[in-house]
Amino acid sequence: MSAIELRPPQNNLRGSLTVPGDKSISHRAVIFASLGQGVSQITNFLTGEDCMRTVEAFRQLGVQIEQSGNELTVYGKGIPHLKEAELPINFGNSGTTARLMSGVLAGLPLFTSAYGDPSLSKRPMDRVVHPLREMGASISGRKNASVLPLAFEGTKLKGTTHHLQVRSAQVKSALLLAGMLAEGETTVVELGVTRNHTEMLMSQFGINIDVEGSKITIQGGQQPTASNFRVPGDISSAAFFIVAAAISSNSSITIKDVGLNSTRDGIIQVMEHMGASVDANIHSYVGDEPVGDIQIKSSALKGVRIEGEMIPNLIDEIPIVALAATQAEGTTIIKDARELRFKETDRIAAVVNNLRALGAHVEPQEDGMIIHGPTPLKGGKVDSFGDHRIGMMGAIASLVCDAPVTIEDKECINISYPTFFDHLNQLTN
Ligand code: S3P
Repeated sequence: MSAIELRPPQNNLRGSLTVPGDKSISHRAVIFASLGQGVSQITNFLTGEDCMRTVEAFRQLGVQIEQSGNELTVYGKGIPHLKEAELPINFGNSGTTARLMSGVLAGLPLFTSAYGDPSLSKRPMDRVVHPLREMGASISGRKNASVLPLAFEGTKLKGTTHHLQVRSAQVKSALLLAGMLAEGETTVVELGVTRNHTEMLMSQFGINIDVEGSKITIQGGQQPTASNFRVPGDISSAAFFIVAAAISSNSSITIKDVGLNSTRDGIIQVMEHMGASVDANIHSYVGDEPVGDIQIKSSALKGVRIEGEMIPNLIDEIPIVALAATQAEGTTIIKDARELRFKETDRIAAVVNNLRALGAHVEPQEDGMIIHGPTPLKGGKVDSFGDHRIGMMGAIASLVCDAPVTIEDKECINISYPTFFDHLNQLTN
């Protein structure tokens, strides 16, 4: 674990950049390619640690996956040819690997055990284990299998109708994957729409599903077919530089080829709502996923309310939006975001601690926070708490601090954005 000290930049942010591939889509692309039949090429794959956990999981299940830079070639032999993993699978820090692979492992006729790092081992798994058990899954583990490590007996699952209790794309996706492997029909009824990459990639890889608003139905026993897929840039990574340019003076940047899926673009809407000069234009599609460029300039921001339906559409962007709010005129209220407490770290506590350490006026709430702005930020020490998005928020804060910011445990940023510091240098030099 090492720290980095970031000094206030000499220059404003200028130029253009391309952010790495989308984390959620990269996980799903390798899942469908690995379960698929035939050779799939995945380009612009996010090679950060989390997505590589999903790659390693399938390698342990006998799938040949070659990597050259950010390109993967996956030699899928089809679901019946997957092999039992001889050793426990390590999900590392990756909540998406843990939840989505639980849906897969529950439905394969193989025994698997799986574990995670100390942070992931504290995060709730019962949200997927309970509904999977309703489908007939045999899953055991500590605390009635509500946390990792878990063991999957691999039983034949039965299609079931699920009314989800949490708004979570990971839970929905785990159940759709289990439904694809099950006998009969599975329906997932969400509390509200969440990111729909699983549904889009299912179509891309030849799986039939039926989507009616927040009700999704899948017939079991389907086998994905191979497909080539270029992963769009990650809007959750772009968000750090969207806010960076908005809060820095005299700045103007373009972020190219970013995924602009309407279930993920809450950051654009919220920044617009705060008064930012931001322009996002779709220029193409990969499968059903829209891709476009985002232009953003220095802006005078104002405080806003962020709540309800908006939350799932920007759940991962709340730490960086909170930083933007410290520079906005007036009060920003973030509520209905209790899910932040179950991320890589408790993100409500981490954001509040770090922003306060830099001089911001922030009050924690059980399901969010209240931020009073604008506040000039001073330098200081921030802790990533091993959470990539908290570390990047601290790094972007250094752009508006009047003294250096030290970020403890900077390595975790590799989880979703291995080239983050290069891009920060590129835009400020
Ligand atoms: C993800 C869904 C979200 C998000 C996470 C990635 C996914 O989690 O926070 O970073 O890829 O499905 P939840 O499903 O827990 O909301």
